[in-house]
Amino acid sequence: RTARFTLDPAFTIGEVNPRLFGSFVEHLGRCVYTGIFEPDHPSADAEGLRQDVLDLVRELGVTTLRYPGGNFVSGYRWEDSVGPVAERPRRLDLAWRSTETNRFGLSEYIAFLKKVGPQAEPMMAINLGTRGVAEALELQEYANQPSGTALSDLRAAHGDKDPFGIRLWCLGNEMDGPWQTGHKTAGEYGRIAAETARAMRQMDPSVELVACGSSSQSMPTFAEWEATVLAETYDLVDYISLHAYYEPQDGDVDSFLASAVDMESFIENVVATCDHVGARLKSQKKINLSFDEWNVWYTSKWHAIENSDARDWPEAPRLLEDNYSVLDAVVFGSLLIALLRHADRVTVACLAQLVNVIAPIMTEPGGPAWRQTTFFPFAQASRYGRGQVLDVRVDSPTYDTEKYGETSLLHATAVRAEDGTVTVFAVNRSRTEALPLEVALGGLGLTSVAEHSVLSDEDANARNTLEEPERVTPHPAEGTSLNEGTLSAVLEPLSWNVIRLT
Ligand code: AHR
Repeated sequence: RTARFTLDPAFTIGEVNPRLFGSFVEHLGRCVYTGIFEPDHPSADAEGLRQDVLDLVRELGVTTLRYPGGNFVSGYRWEDSVGPVAERPRRLDLAWRSTETNRFGLSEYIAFLKKVGPQAEPMMAINLGTRGVAEALELQEYANQPSGTALSDLRAAHGDKDPFGIRLWCLGNEMDGPWQTGHKTAGEYGRIAAETARAMRQMDPSVELVACGSSSQSMPTFAEWEATVLAETYDLVDYISLHAYYEPQDGDVDSFLASAVDMESFIENVVATCDHVGARLKSQKKINLSFDEWNVWYTSKWHAIENSDARDWPEAPRLLEDNYSVLDAVVFGSLLIALLRHADRVTVACLAQLVNVIAPIMTEPGGPAWRQTTFFPFAQASRYGRGQVLDVRVDSPTYDTEKYGETSLLHATAVRAEDGTVTVFAVNRSRTEALPLEVALGGLGLTSVAEHSVLSDEDANARNTLEEPERVTPHPAEGTSLNEGTLSAVLEPLSWNVIRLT
């Protein structure tokens, strides 16, 4: 059976915010050290940044870059990470059982962003685990105050005369999680988030603030957490965060392929909760969503370390270095589609993470950097997913999943760029069958197919590795046509598709 949908320029979801294509650099494993920063690497510049990695980061098309954590931020002492490198202290990082040398810190992060390019914007998390209002204000003053105060002058003395201009701030990280250092109840967190937000706005009313939502939709406190936190912070924050990671559970690949069903319901449930609180408060304001951690993540290896007694505090160990398959990339593409389909309310999103740690880019210390399978859907979505998201309601054959019941084989969205070109992003969830697709394009004035790129492989388990870094790349599809206002294509089994129409 053929999957179908209709596109009409009159029916749109909303404008894609460039911040939807953010990512995340945490002091975790080798994301920073031997990831983006490796002074001894042959490609390193004067500031120790790997040029080969920078090139790939630019090609990936990331915008907002969240930093420095993650769980790491709940023990973060920002003042350790600034000033003369030789004087920076070594600290225990309780979150990842590592030693943090502070060789790379706040100034280096800002320098990295500048080199990524003008589209790269800082998104700084503050520590509301072991710290509070005073330290948040100190960091804000150090980072953003132009001059003439103790901490702004200290920044200048450290070599950064110009303020960093950080607008977007996360008020802590995953404070609902019992694993978080300084974990809090929703009431406790709501109060400290509100008071921190109020004080930060006193210094600068133009900051944009993200309150912590739930670490996943399956948290026992989900929704009640958001409602309680927002009741305290509604007028003081701009966003509530969502985090979600997916992996096959008990070998259930069909449910894994439908992970975006959970992601979309998570988004819709958080929107409903935000709007419920807004209605109770009789507020005109809308809280937007910052999906500031999302990805495929095979968590079991980390849980084994977490549950062990090991306390040897290594520096930049190999942690969470998932090697992604074609199957993973198809699910990943579907997660991107879920974000785009909710671009009206999800206005910030960060792929967790950028390099080595559950990342689209991998590196070898002293050696090469390469693209994982997940690199391609992200780069294509960032490049072509800019403009108005069109409302896509699919009529698709379905399949049965253990977790989500009957699910569409087709998952799709479409984005119309300013110049009128349209890009359809589509995933075929069938592991065995090709899926014929027909899209009615009435009113869009499109006449030709500029490109149909596919990521798929006869071996769903195929991946890129150090030994074979280009084993998986997208390839052109055959036979895609546009006749009399109808796009016709065949989506290969288990595939991510980008169809560009002009
Ligand atoms: O991205 C890895 C970790 O996942 C982050 O540090 C944390 O916020 C989440 O649990």
